[in-house]
Amino acid sequence: MAKNSRRHFLQTGLAVTASGLLLPSLATPTEASGELGAYGDFIAQQTPQPTPAELAAPRLRELAIPAAQAPVNFRLTETNILGPYHRQNAPYRAKITPPLEPGVVLVIKGRVWGQNTRRVLPGTVIDIWQANAQGRYDNDDPQRPPAANLFVNRARVVTDENGYYEYETVHPGPYQIGPRAWRPAHIHYWVRKAGYRDLVTQLYFRGDLHQREDQFIRQSLIIDLRQIRTPHGTYKAGVFDIVLAPRA
Ligand SMILES: [Fe+2]
Repeated sequence: MAKNSRRHFLQTGLAVTASGLLLPSLATPTEASGELGAYGDFIAQQTPQPTPAELAAPRLRELAIPAAQAPVNFRLTETNILGPYHRQNAPYRAKITPPLEPGVVLVIKGRVWGQNTRRVLPGTVIDIWQANAQGRYDNDDPQRPPAANLFVNRARVVTDENGYYEYETVHPGPYQIGPRAWRPAHIHYWVRKAGYRDLVTQLYFRGDLHQREDQFIRQSLIIDLRQIRTPHGTYKAGVFDIVLAPRA
């Protein structure tokens, strides 16, 4: 039909992208800002140039994952319960929490691997959701559901060409689910990669006393956290590698 032709879209100044959003066809490319001038020279002087050896090194060394935490045994990452608080369509961003979210800053990083190939899996989508520092989810009060476009303490991240992911959040709080039943602090993952089985799991933190009062935790999903000191304060960091099973 002529009205749906490409010419028609161009004539009307609109084109439909794969996502269904409309892009003005007359839009011009974003202009480059030109030479950086003196500021560029200053940055170049302040930035040490990598040596040939550094350029040849795997990027993960640059990202400072300690060697002791890097090995992967290629056992499949255990599944864990989905729980009642997942929401679809969380935004893609590398910070899970809103700006200035109260709590201990936490950085989680890791790689996603295929068990069959023993290779990293770029382009893996990890859907992440968690409670805030007080153990509350943004949708745990049926009387006050969140706005449809507001996602607090939720995000999706995508692994890079090295199968690597990293995000910043705050340490989640535990929450009580029965007279003597608690969920220890945890972060939910829903991992998706074409050709591999979806993995729904959670990660936990070593030393959490509420782990004794939880029937769902799996020991293999507990990670160690390290205290990292910076001139601006401290945060905690941990590594959570993931091994996916190929789709049958
Ligand atoms: Fe949970």
